[in-house]
Amino acid sequence: MARPWEAFFEQYDAEGRLYKQAQTSSPMRDHRRAFRAQFNGSLKGKRLLDGGCGYGSDLPFYAKRGAKVYGIDPSKTMIELAKQSYPDFPNLSVQPVQKTTFPDRYFDVVTSIYALHNAPNLRQAFRELHRILKPKGVLLFLVQHPLFVFLLNKNKRYHGKAMVRFTIPDMRPPCTIAQPAHTFSDYFNEFVLERFELQAFEEGHEAVPLWFLAKLRKRETHRCR
Ligand SMILES: C[S@@+](CC[C@H](N)C(=O)[O-])C[C@H]1O[C@@H](n2cnc3c(N)ncnc32)[C@H](O)[C@@H]1O
Repeated sequence: MARPWEAFFEQYDAEGRLYKQAQTSSPMRDHRRAFRAQFNGSLKGKRLLDGGCGYGSDLPFYAKRGAKVYGIDPSKTMIELAKQSYPDFPNLSVQPVQKTTFPDRYFDVVTSIYALHNAPNLRQAFRELHRILKPKGVLLFLVQHPLFVFLLNKNKRYHGKAMVRFTIPDMRPPCTIAQPAHTFSDYFNEFVLERFELQAFEEGHEAVPLWFLAKLRKRETHRCR
């Protein structure tokens, strides 16, 4: 039987092409600008993974700064589109952030835009990203804001583990997908903070913030549980 996240990313398989059209036809959004502003230095010689890279629109940004870029996404369609759009990037593969095939301590940087919140079990995802990052490696992620997701959630139980339905902006025809709801404490809790140090945090400036971003640095040592 398919596991829930397999059924989930089939949604992106079905809608990947429309998603690409919608994103490329609108100007770079505030969230991407805020995310990119976190890179204030060169990435020369750094091995960087974009987790949930979609059709690959951020890969050239990292490569231009000197990174050796890898991209993963559990949607076959998204990875196909990424390969078509960016044939110069050989390291693109179909896999989710919560279970990858990379060796321990492989990456200097892991980035993820609007993808990590799709992982049904964030603890599993953080454990995996911690495993594949080098000590002092950076995890920079941007996800849907839990408040925004809460307002989409029909039963209005902040702590309830619900799937919520979300209509992706600007897609024609409109595309609604179901995704797991998370709370702030799913992102920032003892498990995460004993493995990572929080270095930056920013929320979307919309009336109801659509996103938040966090920059975490892997601690050199932590107490294992
Ligand atoms: C809204 S798109 C964002 C894509 C890209 N990062 C961007 O900013 O355009 C969400 C992406 O998350 C991917 N995704 C879904 N579940 C995932 C998981 N468990 N791990 C990594 N990516 C996932 C989807 O397949 C989809 O490509």
